[in-house]
Amino acid sequence: MLEMIETSTHEAVYRDRRDDLGVTFLVAIHSTKLGPAFGGARMWRYDDEDQALRDALRLSEGMTYKNAMAELGVGGGKSVIWVREPDKAPREAIFAAFGDVLEQLGGQYITAEDVGTSVGDMQIVRRQTRYVAGLPQADGRAGGDPSPWTALGVFEAIEAALATRGRGLVGTLVGVQGCGAVGGRLCDLLVEAGASLVVADVSQAHAAKVAATHGARISDPATILEEPVDVLAPCALGAVLNADTIPRLHASFVVGAANNQLATPEDGDRLAARGVLYVPDYVANAGGIISVLEEYRGQSSALLEARVRVIGPRVRDLLRAADRLSAPPFRLAQTMVDDILAGPVKASA
Ligand code: NAI
Repeated sequence: MLEMIETSTHEAVYRDRRDDLGVTFLVAIHSTKLGPAFGGARMWRYDDEDQALRDALRLSEGMTYKNAMAELGVGGGKSVIWVREPDKAPREAIFAAFGDVLEQLGGQYITAEDVGTSVGDMQIVRRQTRYVAGLPQADGRAGGDPSPWTALGVFEAIEAALATRGRGLVGTLVGVQGCGAVGGRLCDLLVEAGASLVVADVSQAHAAKVAATHGARISDPATILEEPVDVLAPCALGAVLNADTIPRLHASFVVGAANNQLATPEDGDRLAARGVLYVPDYVANAGGIISVLEEYRGQSSALLEARVRVIGPRVRDLLRAADRLSAPPFRLAQTMVDDILAGPVKASA
């Protein structure tokens, strides 16, 4: 049964505890001010409901920021499928039930794949509801795995950040933490543009693949952040920029795909004080959400590419404005989103 959980920070939070399936569905709708809440479904084995709820609340708020800055005309939401009893029910039954939850919510929230969920899972959801994206690509239309689009957006953001300091990618050394779906593709784009790479991944196979393809040097996952690189691209975990790591960074630029890279807002100020140009993660990594939204809207992949490439000029404008105001870009981005959310805009997906 779908219940509402009390919240003071979000528009609505729903819970459906399904003992028969061994899972609990949590849907966090942070804001629908700009349109229906849009954001992926994460499937994870949390320790308890508090942990699952915290993740849903934090991630859905982040989606409001990401979607607003990318001018997508949608709000922010996220869902979490907390796996309490693994293997209790077939995946198909879980995602069919999740689809029913979304249908009951009537389009307030639209989902897509995220950590732990796949295109195949979203196809099962689609049988129960139309409020889902991240489905297979069809003839020239946007769709499918959003990771390559996230990588393209991060690449554009890196180029734009370098350009604001009169630099380019040729001969630039980039450190990539995490060579998975996004980081791996980002490495391809960086090398094509003339950069050299230092990479690290806890999966030796992932790092070895990039080393073999691009002649990248492999670093230790424990020390990749300290490498003497020009640009650091965190593409693995959140909270990697913190009071412990920041004093040890050598990079002049930090631009990556990982969500919530700053452990606290003060860490953004710490980076600025050290002269590190940090592009807010949610500005750089919006390519994936742009992909699933344009798919949802039935747009072409050509239009999708154009929309993702706008991340470059957006980063450039943000960094130039921050320079003019002598403000850290992440602080300015926050103010810009707050202004957008305070304004009268209302659109629909
Ligand atoms: P992925 O799971 O394909 O890749 C992550 C990689 O990081 C894996 O190769 C993993 O072995 C590695 N890794 C994990 N812990 C590590 C550590 N401590 N040190 C070094 N490497 C480590 O995930 P994906 O899709 O590439 O996403 C990467 C990041 O970008 C995640 O934080 C994700 O939330 C974020 N993101 C991804 C989007 C997408 O479209 N896939 C969209 C927006 C954000």
